[in-house]
Amino acid sequence: MAETTEVIIRRGVVSDAADIAALEVICFADPWSEESLVYELSENPRAVYVVAEVEGHVVGYAGVWGIVDEGHITNVAVSPDYRRKNIGSLLIYHMLKATMQAGLVRHTLEVRAGNVAAQALYRKFGFTEAGVRKGYYADNGEDAIIMWRDSENEEGLGC
Ligand SMILES: CC(C)(COP(=O)(O)OP(=O)(O)OC[C@H]1O[C@@H](n2cnc3c(N)ncnc32)[C@H](O)[C@@H]1OP(=O)(O)O)[C@@H](O)C(=O)NCCC(=O)NCCS
Repeated sequence: MAETTEVIIRRGVVSDAADIAALEVICFADPWSEESLVYELSENPRAVYVVAEVEGHVVGYAGVWGIVDEGHITNVAVSPDYRRKNIGSLLIYHMLKATMQAGLVRHTLEVRAGNVAAQALYRKFGFTEAGVRKGYYADNGEDAIIMWRDSENEEGLGC
């Protein structure tokens, strides 16, 4: 990606489902199907998706479910060709901003114990480790680290 290439961050819409499903296959051992993403983006009233677009293509996305006043982050990924270019950070920033404005005051997620890149990204935004689910991932028995971020007493994202 050239330094000047524009990255557009916007809300995900149902026509993004195929692009997101393609990234799921590349990025995860247990990808969400296009069908489930169509539901997420068109019918699930709890779901909010933020996507990163470069030259008309979705290169990253973040999804969250709003449950009462909590945001449960369901999936975050950036295309391998576009990693380490701040796109993951932009997605998390805009996802948190939108959902905090909508009244969510805490956010949580599970991340593989060995996924140091994602854990570093989440820590950058104030997530801290709150527990471990032993052997949570069915494909290899890896532990899940549970992370939480509390914005109840915060004025903003501070970044
Ligand atoms: C995790 C992921 C979304 C990060 O996206 P990204 O666009 O590369 O992230 P950014 O460029 O905004 O990096 C943000 C921070 O994350 C950390 N980070 C990102 N990649 C890293 C790596 N390979 N190793 C160590 N830290 C890393 C760094 O702290 C970085 O901040 P810095 O650039 O100031 O050092 C991306 O690696 C990805 O899609 N991974 C596969 C899918 C996945 O694991 N999703 C998370 C599931 S819980």
